[in-house]
Parts: sequence; structure tokens; C-alpha cells
Amino acid sequence: MRAFFTIGLVIMLAWISAAQAEAPPDETAREVIAVIGTGRVGGALGPRFASIGHRIVYGSRDPASEKVKALIQRSGSAASAASPAAAAAQASIIVLAVPWNAVETVVRSLGDLSGKIIMDATNPLRFGSGRSFELAVDSSGGEHVQQWAPQARVVKAFNAVGWKVMGNPGLAGGPVTIPLVGDDDKAKSRVAEIVRAIGFETADLGPIRHARHLEGMAILYLTPLMSGRPADGFEFYLRRHPAPPARAKPPPAG
Ligand SMILES: NC(=O)c1ccc[n+]([C@@H]2O[C@H](COP(=O)([O-])OP(=O)(O)OC[C@H]3O[C@@H](n4cnc5c(N)ncnc54)[C@H](OP(=O)(O)O)[C@@H]3O)[C@@H](O)[C@H]2O)c1
Repeated sequence: MRAFFTIGLVIMLAWISAAQAEAPPDETAREVIAVIGTGRVGGALGPRFASIGHRIVYGSRDPASEKVKALIQRSGSAASAASPAAAAAQASIIVLAVPWNAVETVVRSLGDLSGKIIMDATNPLRFGSGRSFELAVDSSGGEHVQQWAPQARVVKAFNAVGWKVMGNPGLAGGPVTIPLVGDDDKAKSRVAEIVRAIGFETADLGPIRHARHLEGMAILYLTPLMSGRPADGFEFYLRRHPAPPARAKPPPAG
């Protein structure tokens, strides 16, 4: 009886391990993400996305630089770097993390972006004299990016949170919301999954034309920091309503 039980157990374990070996690859873990720009934002997000299993390709003006090599070292064994166009060609998701004055040139240089998701972390900022700054466009950077890449699915994300918290959400001392806007619901859901997987909450706040409001949030976010009042700095957190009370059914007529 015991031998029969042991053989059964061995067969079952063999079957489970074979099933695991044949299991389809986890699509989310195998995604290739191109991070265009290797400054503060790219350098914060790339390693975070690598930490949840994605393969990161940095798109850089100088992919062989020491700065980029050090970033690759921090981004998992499969990470690499290439020109922005070569990085984008390998990826299904492209993170835009370059200064506003470079965004149009960079986006237009990326080649065929049909169906790809652009995670747009940029802010269209114009800095004036002293500590003044303002939005540099009347509509929004997000809408411009969607116009410059009409075949791509643009999702504005991460534009109103600081790079240090992007790289380590625990620094915020509490939950942080990353608001998302974009015209493609599936792309927004996919981005939301990834954003949540690296430790943030998300809120779908509508179409890409709402990007102007997210970029306004960035202006508010920067105001205490640019005014020399870092102690007044904050993170955005959208606390959801408690569950609304169930509505009483109206009494039957008659
Ligand atoms: N800093 C933040 O906390 C923060 C937060 C939210 C959103 N953002 C937005 O995210 C974007 C990137 O910000 P960041 O702070 O990461 O900027 P950053 O530190 O200056 O890095 C930008 C990177 O973009 C690349 N780049 C490509 N073309 C460039 C050009 N013409 N001039 C300079 N750099 C160029 C560079 O990487 P390569 O040398 O490898 O090409 C550079 O390292 C901006 O639009 C910013 O408004 C920033």
C-alpha cells in the first residue's frame, strides 16, 4: 500500500514539474521596455521595471558611456543600451524620460511605433528668470506626443512624482497615486499593472486631452521645491470614496 502511495506521489510530482516547464511564458515578465533617456527619471524607472522581471533597453545618445554602463549594471543581467531608435524597435513599451525641448525630435526619431505603448513621463516645462517656470504649451505635452506618434498608444504616467520616489516608493512614507491618462483603455490597463507592480497606486483619469491637468499637477508639485521650501513638498495620493451605501429599492408600485 505504501509503495503504491509513493509511486503515485512520484508520478504526481513529475506531472506537476512537467506542467510547470511547459507553462506558457508569463507575458508580463518577458516584456521588453525601452527607456529613452538615462537621467534621473530613466535611471529611477529602468531598474524598478527590471526588478519585476522586464528586460530593459536604454535608449541613449551615448549608449557606450560610463553613465549608461553603470545604469545597465543596476538593471538586471538582461539589460542593454542602444540608440533611442534601436531601443524602441526592440520594445513593446517605450518610456519617454527626456527633457521637453528634446521630446519632439526624439519621438519622431523612434521609427515605426505602430501599436506600441508610450509611457510619457515628460513635462512641457519652460523655465524663466529666477525660479519662475510654466507650462510651455497651450494644450499638453501628452497630446503633442500622441500627435507626433499617431500609431502609438500614449499613456501619460509618472509626470507628477519625483524621481527619488519613482526609484523608491517607500521614501514617500505612505501610498502614492500615479494618475494615468490616455485614449487607449487597454494600454492604460497594461501601464497600470506595471505601475502597481512597482509599488504605486494608480487612477485612470481619462483621455489624453486630460494630460494638461496632470502636467498642471507637476507645476503644483514643483512649486514648493522651486520656491526653496522642500519641507512643504508632498506626493499626490487620491483616497477613494468609501463604498457608497446600498440604495434602498423603491417599494413595489400599487
Ligand atoms: N526629475 C524628476 O523628478 C521628474 C519627475 C517627473 C517627470 N520628469 C520629467 O521627465 C523628463 C526627464 O527628466 P529627468 O529629470 O530625468 O531629466 P535629466 O536628468 O536631465 O535626464 C534626461 C535624459 O534625457 C536624455 N536626453 C535626450 N536628449 C537630450 C537633450 N537634448 N538634452 C538633454 N538630455 C537629453 C539624456 O540621456 P542620454 O544622455 O542617455 O541621451 C538625459 O540623461 C523631463 O521631461 C521631466 O520634466 C522629471
